[in-house]
Amino acid sequence: MLCLGVESSCDETALALVEDGVLLHSVLATQADMHALFGGVVPELASREHYRFVGSLFDELMQRTSKRASDIDLVTVARGPGLLGSLLVGVAFAKGLALGLGARFLGVNHLHAHLLAAGLEQPLTFPALGLLVSGGHTHLYHIESPWKCIPLGRTLDDAAGEAFDKVAKVLGLSYPGGKLMDALAREGRADSVVFPRPYLDNDNLDFSFSGLKTAASSHIQQALQSPTWPRPLCSVEEAPHQLKDCCAAFNAAVVDTLCKKTKRALDKIPQLQTLILAGGVACNSLLRQRITALMKSRGGRALIPSPHLCTDNAAMIAYAGWLLGKEGFYHHLNMETIPRGRAVPDDMQRRP
Ligand code: KG4
Ligand code: ZN
Repeated sequence: MLCLGVESSCDETALALVEDGVLLHSVLATQADMHALFGGVVPELASREHYRFVGSLFDELMQRTSKRASDIDLVTVARGPGLLGSLLVGVAFAKGLALGLGARFLGVNHLHAHLLAAGLEQPLTFPALGLLVSGGHTHLYHIESPWKCIPLGRTLDDAAGEAFDKVAKVLGLSYPGGKLMDALAREGRADSVVFPRPYLDNDNLDFSFSGLKTAASSHIQQALQSPTWPRPLCSVEEAPHQLKDCCAAFNAAVVDTLCKKTKRALDKIPQLQTLILAGGVACNSLLRQRITALMKSRGGRALIPSPHLCTDNAAMIAYAGWLLGKEGFYHHLNMETIPRGRAVPDDMQRRP
């Protein structure tokens, strides 16, 4: 089964082809540099850029794989959650293509696709615990199967990636700052300041990162007043040790918190022996190390995709679509697109 995946939920326009579970090729146009000028994603601009690139990316994908559009059996698209205008561009493109080709159509949950992306590199085993950490979401899931991901906990305010990006902005780093903070943190002292490990004093699996973000931002704003704080803040090599230490301390606080709640989830549901780490923050080097060590200490298995499969991409959409498509799932063309903040409904149809 040849499956096309379309991703346009935020600021990456991406398309990929997966054939029988194997990625043939993927193409991506990122808008990160444009949004960096504004310090965050500007929704109106994002939609326009998706519209500008989606058609030519499709042509490029077909050329690179030497496939014809008529070879596509299933057109899958990220239907949400995400920026509504951005999603609509990808969904309208995918619906039009499916209609024109007479191919099956399926909208996939962007968050579930992140969790399933690990399967492109190693066999997935279920049930699994899923820790999804991205710019918009921080969720723990009990993954029973590719079509049954049960939420166990979520952030009550900021997502972990959002907290990284906001603290990075206060530090004067460009958007999105999570990746650079990770690189700086590797050269800093995590015990230089102790930031709070938030929302642990309870028995639940939810997160809250806004207090930590505020504590780190106030600390940095104070430090910035000091005449000894060097500027401008530039490359990792040239960065002052104060900056590296702040990044290391913040990074450690976020990672510690994520790991403590993950361990709590594993203690609550001991039959979960596999952990899938997903989303852009899953690129974080300390988080990858700590999650791997946690699962090893419990005799379990951590599935962590390569960094290019952790951030937004279309390979994960095509792969999730293939996993569901081979079980007979599909949507009618009147499928709704789901903006950020609304739960994606479980409304797939299934062929007998
Ligand atoms: O999954 P993703 O590409 O987009 C969303 O669906 O949100 O995640 C992007 C987020 C951004 O907040 C970015 O700063 C963060 O992932 N991120 C990182 C790292 N690489 C990307 N955060 C911490 N450490 C990293 N190495
Ligand atoms: Zn994402």
